[in-house]
Amino acid sequence: MSNNDPHRFQLCIIEGDGIGREVIPAAQTVLRAAGLPFDAVHAEAGWDCFEQHGTALPDETVALARRSDAVLFGAVSSPSRRVPGYASPIVELRRRLDLFANLRPAHSWPIAASRPGIDLLIVRENSEGLYVRRERREGDTAIAERVISRPGAERIARVACAWAMRRRKQLTIVHKANVLPETCGLFRQTALDVAAAHPALTVGEMLVDAMALRLVTHPQRYDVIVASNLFGDILSDEAAGLVGGMGLAPSANVGATRSPALFEPVHGSAPDIAGQGVANPIAAILSAAMLLDHFDERERAARVRRAVEQVIRRGPRTPDLGGTATTTQVVRAIERQIINGKN
Ligand code: NAI
Ligand code: MG
Repeated sequence: MSNNDPHRFQLCIIEGDGIGREVIPAAQTVLRAAGLPFDAVHAEAGWDCFEQHGTALPDETVALARRSDAVLFGAVSSPSRRVPGYASPIVELRRRLDLFANLRPAHSWPIAASRPGIDLLIVRENSEGLYVRRERREGDTAIAERVISRPGAERIARVACAWAMRRRKQLTIVHKANVLPETCGLFRQTALDVAAAHPALTVGEMLVDAMALRLVTHPQRYDVIVASNLFGDILSDEAAGLVGGMGLAPSANVGATRSPALFEPVHGSAPDIAGQGVANPIAAILSAAMLLDHFDERERAARVRRAVEQVIRRGPRTPDLGGTATTTQVVRAIERQIINGKN
């Protein structure tokens, strides 16, 4: 809660680049329609911020995020080439706030682009793995370090087990320990040890390449999937593709209880459609619904999800879902449904 008014939440709003600026205002509109009492404080991050201020993640942004109850984050553009002084601000922000768990749910929607019967949650380790960004060049060879620690694997496994206990009580541990017995071996064994403390869980394990295949062939069989950083990043995009694409994929970044959680769509800044007013706002809106759940505002969260489902079912829909609507038209429809809908 905000320091000054115990009944209002303070949300740190970081729109970022590209369609982040289009979908985050949409998410705020929906939070207001759902009646969440909050004050928005705006902060900068991303490529445009880097070009203007020489840093992609100003210290003030981190300070403002820390002082807030939660962060709503859009997307940033990160170049695929090395740019001196630039580092992905979202990876850095997750690290500075110690948001070690990235929750990426994927479930079926009533549209042709979605496969039926899917309801899974990918719990992605967010703080180590290959994303520690320890890369170096030795002549013609480029080397990246991959860090897996027992405490890191333990804490992500605990989060995954807790979610599995609340859901269908199935946990799948993803790794590649046959090729990487040290790093993946430690991740696997630690996760198995943590899971063993939950006899109610059905625990399985899967090599990451097999998991990628099984997600395509039998996605309905999975409940909670726990994976190290890069594997979780890749598998969650794949899972999004099974249920309607990046325009519908939300996520939450959570850590120790004292740090504010951060909610963001899984997608990036989408430079191919940025500025056209046609970005699908639903991934950001569903991220806002995860924020409501996180604040224990379950009824409000449920109302938002029901409104989203109605609009996905009946339209209007943005072009990524085969429609012709603009971002604004979709947001207005969801807003109306929340306020007036019989839900
Ligand atoms: P992307 O997610 O931005 O776009 C992939 C494809 O999905 C594009 O065709 C895009 O138009 C479409 N798409 C994404 N979100 C959509 C939405 N809400 N509505 C309709 N269509 C949508 O990923 P891409 O192209 O790989 O990366 C573009 C930039 O975004 C890069 O600079 C990358 O570094 C950055 N990025 C940032 C992330 C973040 O801030 N968390 C995550 C992923 C990428
Ligand atoms: Mg990704």
